[in-house]
Amino acid sequence: MMNLLLTIKYPVQEELAAFKQLFDSALLSSNPLLEEALAHIRQRGGKMMRPILIFLLAKNFGKVTSSTLHAAVSLELLHTASLVHDDVVDESTLRRGQLSVNAIFNNKVAVLVGDFLLAAALTHAGKTNKNQIIDVISTLGKELADGELLQLSNVSNPDFSEKVYFDVIRKKTAALFAACTEVAALSVGAPEKGRSIARTLGEYIGICFQIKDDIFDYYDANAELGKPTGNDMHEGKLTLPVLYVLNKISDEWPKKIAAKVKTGEASQKEIDRLVNFTKLNGGIQYAEEVMYKYKDKALCLLNEIPDPDIRDSLTSYLYYVVNREK
Ligand code: IPE
Ligand code: IPE
Ligand code: MG
Ligand code: MG
Repeated sequence: MMNLLLTIKYPVQEELAAFKQLFDSALLSSNPLLEEALAHIRQRGGKMMRPILIFLLAKNFGKVTSSTLHAAVSLELLHTASLVHDDVVDESTLRRGQLSVNAIFNNKVAVLVGDFLLAAALTHAGKTNKNQIIDVISTLGKELADGELLQLSNVSNPDFSEKVYFDVIRKKTAALFAACTEVAALSVGAPEKGRSIARTLGEYIGICFQIKDDIFDYYDANAELGKPTGNDMHEGKLTLPVLYVLNKISDEWPKKIAAKVKTGEASQKEIDRLVNFTKLNGGIQYAEEVMYKYKDKALCLLNEIPDPDIRDSLTSYLYYVVNREK
């Protein structure tokens, strides 16, 4: 899997090196507390899924520009900000194999560090010098917050709705991937048709990405994953595998437990029971099938990619998204 990521990055390795420099230089401050938190974040980067995607798409449509680079830095900063805030919202203590910002410092510091990252993202959006890109990024920022809030308010919704689930993951995750592919196209002046294909491709990738992430949560965490599992139900979240099973079966007890999950009243034992029931009744398999359907839709769009090296990388990228272990 690690090797696969190297193959995927191959056509854009120089761009990624330039990206890393600019990204790290955005994570600096003369305020000692802020600098301590930023150093902690610099220490462990993520998988860089979004910058990789941006550079691959930009290269497909033209030549990577300084706008592409600033857009990539902006979106990775926005992603980082959303993770720092997400760990506060989810009360999660582990991120990228190290303590989360809220765990090392506290929630107050994490909220403010997230704000700083968000503002740094705006700085780089501005540096793209393209209004259309600034527009995509600022709209995205609103959508991410909308998605996280929709997810929060859905906890008190008594329905076990797959539709709301898809609304949430479109907004909180797929919108970011769609923004990546769209700004990539915009940064190199791709024609309108290319831009629209790019955006749809990003959306499908993002949906696969979040379904996969939600499946991780049903299994024991491993060191590679670098973040806790089993958190979703503790936070009142019912994701695709269990939603499918709840809507398919007629047994009453799983529905009763699921309702308690939503109100935060389910015990660990009850959560374990519901997770097992979900696995035994094909919930994971169903979620995987839905994910593969979106993967196939994305693969179909890759037929429109003319450059064979980029097409290969994007094909492997998709394979990585659905088969990854972290
Ligand atoms: C985590 O994204 C947030 C989700 C959308 C599930 P990544 O798994 O890409 O996080 P990093 O950047 O590699 O840590
Ligand atoms: C991921 O949310 C998307 C964001 C908006 C950060 P999750 O809560 O599902 O992601 P992880 O599992 O903490 O990375
Ligand atoms: Mg989380
Ligand atoms: Mg969350």
